[in-house]
Amino acid sequence: MPGALKQWPTWPEFTKDKGEAEKEFAQYKKDIAEQYGEAALRQSWVKVCKKLESLTDEIAEKGTSMIPVIPFDEIKDLSPEKRAELQSVGCFVVRGVVDRPTADEWFQNAKTYVADNRSSITGWPAETPFVLKLYWSPTQLAARTHPNHLALQRELNSWWHDASNSTSPDPLSYADGIRIRPPKVSFYGLGPHIDAGSLTRWVDPAYRKVYHKIWEGKPEEHDAYDLELRKDADQAIFGGSAHSSVFRAYQGWTALTESGPQEGSLLLYPDVQTVIAYLLLRPFFQPPKDEAEIMDATKWTFDVSDTWFPGTWRDDSQMLSPSSHPHLRLQECMVNIPRMYPGDTVWWHCDMCHAVEVEHHGQHDSSVVYVAATPTTPTNALYMKAQLHDFLAGRAPEDFKRSGSDESGYKGFLGEKSILSGEEGRRAMGFGLTV
Ligand SMILES: [Fe+2]
Repeated sequence: MPGALKQWPTWPEFTKDKGEAEKEFAQYKKDIAEQYGEAALRQSWVKVCKKLESLTDEIAEKGTSMIPVIPFDEIKDLSPEKRAELQSVGCFVVRGVVDRPTADEWFQNAKTYVADNRSSITGWPAETPFVLKLYWSPTQLAARTHPNHLALQRELNSWWHDASNSTSPDPLSYADGIRIRPPKVSFYGLGPHIDAGSLTRWVDPAYRKVYHKIWEGKPEEHDAYDLELRKDADQAIFGGSAHSSVFRAYQGWTALTESGPQEGSLLLYPDVQTVIAYLLLRPFFQPPKDEAEIMDATKWTFDVSDTWFPGTWRDDSQMLSPSSHPHLRLQECMVNIPRMYPGDTVWWHCDMCHAVEVEHHGQHDSSVVYVAATPTTPTNALYMKAQLHDFLAGRAPEDFKRSGSDESGYKGFLGEKSILSGEEGRRAMGFGLTV
């Protein structure tokens, strides 16, 4: 299996007895069943599981080669067919967004910033922090607002459509952390999951509508790039530090160092349409008693009285595991991204299942800056206005407030002097935004 994990880590299996199950959870299922009907949900369930038979075979066979690799220079001139392919798989590597000397310099600067302020910096996991709760280092600002990066973000944002004209592909610079992961330290914190909220996908009426074709029995017609619907989805109705308040068209890593498989890298499930449909339908069905029939979707029983949403906790990202989501064949279909080099980027659709490798068997730190493609929408712009105030004060942005850090007094904090690309970079950081 090229690209699949040699050994599945001991990530948790999500079972009903350990799940979160409040009385009202069953009502969320009943509301959807009432609106769309059991027949449509069942039709979707069977279609999606059928589709997964061939899709999982393909991913298990092709592995990492499922993830397209595009040189930065070619991203704006893709043929319609190639772009459609990238949209369909929902993840890809864009190489050489900045040149290697620039990325090397960013990494050195980041290490200096961390070393100079070490005693004040916190991170995750607490015992061996390497996902650092830093938001305003010159390296992060440079990565977010480098002209090539902004051009790429704008391009990726434009792959979504919105007939309402209330949004634009103009990139906004959502501030997230930075990772400097040392070798030889195991990390179990990020098993297979999907971000952008969890239970809210079923509960928030606007979010639910994003997936209306799936509820209607036509999962093959689900449009994963409909920003007109998606812009109104509330990802954070239940709160929790795992949920971003902004809509990110694609999440992304910008590599500051070289890193390959088995070196603490990223795993992706390279599909954007079928996996999310399966995830959404799964809570409505109970498995057959006979384990031998588990993979036969027609043997599953429709049931909306059950309060359990597999892998779902209100305040956390949406989790997935082999036993709770068997048709996904996660052990064969979570594939390594290709080897990354300084200045490369990897992108994945906001509905994509992803994970971070438990082991880092390499010799060096593996470092990335989290930079997403974030379009301008009314909700996003509102967040950016508040983020700008936090930035100018050196405070952690709203989505990361719990860390409570104040970088204004850090050695090397340069505030708005760190922004690249002139007015375009300043706009991405929220200056002059009208909301
Ligand atoms: Fe994630």
